Amino acid sequence: MNHPAWLDNAIFYEIYPQSFKDTNGDGIGDFNGIIEKLDYIKELGCTAIWMNPCFDSPFGDAGYDVADYYKAAPRYGTNDDLKRLFDEVHKRDMHILLDLVPGHTSTEHKWFKESVKPERNEFTDRYVWTDSIWEEPTGYGSLRGISDRDGSCMVNFFSHQPALNYGFYKPEKSWQQAVTDEGPKATLQEMMNVMAFWLGLGCDGFRVDMAGSLVKNDEDGKGTIALWRQVRDFLNQKFPDAAMVSEWGEPDKSLQGGFHMDFLLHFGPSHYNDLFRCEHPFFAGDGDASAFVAKYLENYEKSERKGLICIPSGNHDMDRLARTITGDKAKIVFSFLLSMPGAPFIYYGDEIGMRYVEGLTSVEGGYSRTGSRSPMQWDDSVNAGFSSASKEKLYVPMDESEDRPNVKRAMEDPDSLYHEVKKLITIRQQHSALQSLADIRFVWVKENAYPLAYIRENAEEKILVVLNPSDKEVAFKCDEVSAFEELYRLGGELTVQDGMITIPAVSACWVSIK
Ligand code: GLC
Ligand code: CA
Repeated sequence: MNHPAWLDNAIFYEIYPQSFKDTNGDGIGDFNGIIEKLDYIKELGCTAIWMNPCFDSPFGDAGYDVADYYKAAPRYGTNDDLKRLFDEVHKRDMHILLDLVPGHTSTEHKWFKESVKPERNEFTDRYVWTDSIWEEPTGYGSLRGISDRDGSCMVNFFSHQPALNYGFYKPEKSWQQAVTDEGPKATLQEMMNVMAFWLGLGCDGFRVDMAGSLVKNDEDGKGTIALWRQVRDFLNQKFPDAAMVSEWGEPDKSLQGGFHMDFLLHFGPSHYNDLFRCEHPFFAGDGDASAFVAKYLENYEKSERKGLICIPSGNHDMDRLARTITGDKAKIVFSFLLSMPGAPFIYYGDEIGMRYVEGLTSVEGGYSRTGSRSPMQWDDSVNAGFSSASKEKLYVPMDESEDRPNVKRAMEDPDSLYHEVKKLITIRQQHSALQSLADIRFVWVKENAYPLAYIRENAEEKILVVLNPSDKEVAFKCDEVSAFEELYRLGGELTVQDGMITIPAVSACWVSIK
């Protein structure tokens, strides 16, 4: 498998294009706005971008309901503007992934409008349909009674997102097609055409939405893995440098499918939420990281210690980090994220501690997610520098609190979270043992106890990371450290005596031990 070298020390910045920077005063962010702010992202130290969906869409699910895969959403700009964004990213030695949504389209997509017709046509089998309106696909919702086609169409997420047909691993009913049938094959071919189109224009790869869900009745993921292997073969031939990151949450499967990296998700078995988003998050100071570590190691072993499991600070689907963790403890979160294997992902605004905006009415299918999607706060000017539009026209209302953080003030304050993140990134980039591929070994993790300690290691160096977000000084046994050189510290100093390491309350340390 080709592995783009730039992934090894990549640090991603996730941009929700709606809310990043508006340059034409319509209250919605746009490509030109992202271009304007590329230097900011670069200066923070990020080397790559994941941009949420930007294709033509009725925006019933923030663009995860695509109406035309080949056309940029006019609200963001034209295809030429998007190409210019790719070029501007590359000029700065950075890379950009688009968000590919292969599992479903919008009901507004022309394929679907053809597919609902009772007469057979090219798109009849593009989606998953039962062969009678009276039968619904079990386990899924369906679109029914919306045309004279006699059948119910399987829904993949919201009910305006019909499931594209990649076939069934084990077809059981007459209407369930095999992966090798013409309809499913044509769907996959078309999705590869879409990828080729954007890669040809200069994007560097894709974050793939719901990547593990394409083939149906596929309990162990075998059909979906095989499907992605076909995509990998095609990419190896035509676009060997294309980088692929999956929203799958099962790295053993996704990496077999040819993905370079997989995300830890805030749902499913990862225990990711134990760290930052539960009643007693570990990083808030009175939680437990042991179940997370056990699961992480299980995945790490299953993915052959490749270390390509990405842990995000947040994303457009979960509560903002700052809803549960602030101040020095937020700094400790970043000293964790930026010292773990795999590429770290920073959700826009998390680097300045942007808050979850409480009590918002849903916008474009955001529901409770809307509060994490508010406009980026740049400075002290109108609408925090996001847009010159009147307040009512903003895509999502701003965080209205008087002390809301912004980039300008964060840059002026040497003690800000922003500067801490920047410092941590700089140190990570100076030590390959802290980057994506180096080994990790947990040296101290205990149920309901602190600290969390691990060693990152490669042929060049051995680095011990000790994190204590709790309000008490703690000590643990570790025979591996005698002399050390401090690379990074927040809070009090680490001390070593008789094989015991002590770290003060609310502190974090990275030390080189070889
Ligand atoms: C993914 C996206 C989410 C979207 C859903 C349906 O989970 O991250 O935002 O609503 O898929 O496409
Ligand atoms: Ca705009």
